[in-house]
Amino acid sequence: MTDELTPETPDEDEQPIKQRKNGLYPGVSDELAASMKTGWADTELRDLEPIEQAPNTARRREALSRRFPGERLVIPAGNLKTRSNDTEYDFRAATEYVHLTGDQTEDSVLVLEPRENGEGHDATLYRLPRSNRENGEFWLDGMGELWVGRRNSLTEATALLGVDCADVRELAGTLREATGPVRVVRGHDAGIEAALADKVTAERDEELRVYLSEARLIKDEFEIGELQKAVDSTVRGFEDVVKVLDKAEATSERYIEGTFFLRARVEGNDVGYGSICAAGPHATTLHWVRNNGQVRSGDLLLLDAGVETNTLYTADVTRTLPINGTYTDLQRKIYDAVYEAQEAGIAAVKPGAAFRDFHDAAQRVLAEKLVEWGLVEGPVDRVLELGLQRRWTLHGTGHMLGLDVHDCAVARTETYVNGTLEAGMVLTVEPGLYFQADDLTVPEEYRGIGVRIEDDILVTEDGNRNLSAALPRRSDEVEAWMARLTAQRA
Ligand code: GLY
Ligand code: MN
Ligand code: MN
Repeated sequence: MTDELTPETPDEDEQPIKQRKNGLYPGVSDELAASMKTGWADTELRDLEPIEQAPNTARRREALSRRFPGERLVIPAGNLKTRSNDTEYDFRAATEYVHLTGDQTEDSVLVLEPRENGEGHDATLYRLPRSNRENGEFWLDGMGELWVGRRNSLTEATALLGVDCADVRELAGTLREATGPVRVVRGHDAGIEAALADKVTAERDEELRVYLSEARLIKDEFEIGELQKAVDSTVRGFEDVVKVLDKAEATSERYIEGTFFLRARVEGNDVGYGSICAAGPHATTLHWVRNNGQVRSGDLLLLDAGVETNTLYTADVTRTLPINGTYTDLQRKIYDAVYEAQEAGIAAVKPGAAFRDFHDAAQRVLAEKLVEWGLVEGPVDRVLELGLQRRWTLHGTGHMLGLDVHDCAVARTETYVNGTLEAGMVLTVEPGLYFQADDLTVPEEYRGIGVRIEDDILVTEDGNRNLSAALPRRSDEVEAWMARLTAQRA
């Protein structure tokens, strides 16, 4: 009998088994250890078809290879992060890795190795293999499959992803020994970065990150389909929320968050970002995610939420709804102004337009309204030139959308913010007006009102398509839609 399980003849290269810290294993007899090694069926999956996006990810890797000839490129998926003691946050693979592989497995690393003949790269996806049953890893290691679930074998993953797969536990050592130019996407895998520390520079690594961000600016057909799925689930999530507003009134904004989350988890992977369930004056806090406030009849609910699909594409949609189903006159006036601004913004989304055009169009409408209401002194051109409307409009009118809610975030200014719209781009158009509860420069009745309307817009060859058009936007249509849904309450 021994107190702990150790391999009989430890292999020097083998990783030590990290026993779970929860003390469930006070000791393992030799007999139990022997028993656990045997009696398991062969579960290898054969004749697997590649995932649907495998040709798309292959094209992206080829383009990446052309951009950085002769250089080793290292793109990690990332590792689990501790939430508390020995529990971890849900894993969400790094966007760059997902875009290039279609895979989402923690601890994996994509490496593009330049070929010796100088032409192109060989791609290898390093990942954890099936757990070893000989040394007890599969049931004693915290990352063993008996604890965390079956993994694909390296052969299975190769077939699914269309990339040769190898054991990631050998990668850090290989990278440490490697010679020649290398770049890594930083911020996801500290172990891999440490192995490369004396071979990389921040500036060169940033060039890789910027390239990968810009490579996502134009979505392919598969991605557009996924974004539409994300939006469609999001529409259903908003409908779910409207149906339970009475229960939210009896509890809190958390009821709204939980209701939307249920839809996101059942139809997708998760929410793409923390749902903003902002009732009453919370709507004036742009990223209100505490969601612990009261939901009161007569107030507005600003709900900004998006389902993330199982392939990790996210929607980003906002509606500002009257909790009792009918806007007050002032709420409607402000809502309709934001709606008009959004209409102007959406109309400016087309191929060849400057990215800034839709922002400028929406800001002009909002500035006109603020002048008309006497909240800021005109003329409108002066207001816009000095940016005075921004006290109440607060944020940019939209951003690229994709695997990240704020997608392509490190693209260069000249290709994104100062760039030109092209067919295949997907962006949000989301103007808002926010009158803080303590804003003494506006009449008292405006204070605590916040309105944002946000839709997800695909740039098409001849204009745009609103992917979230199924969710009503005009104030009277919102009211009719809410009345229909609340009539269906059990
Ligand atoms: N949900 C964050 C945003 O609208 O940008
Ligand atoms: Mn947004
Ligand atoms: Mn949003």
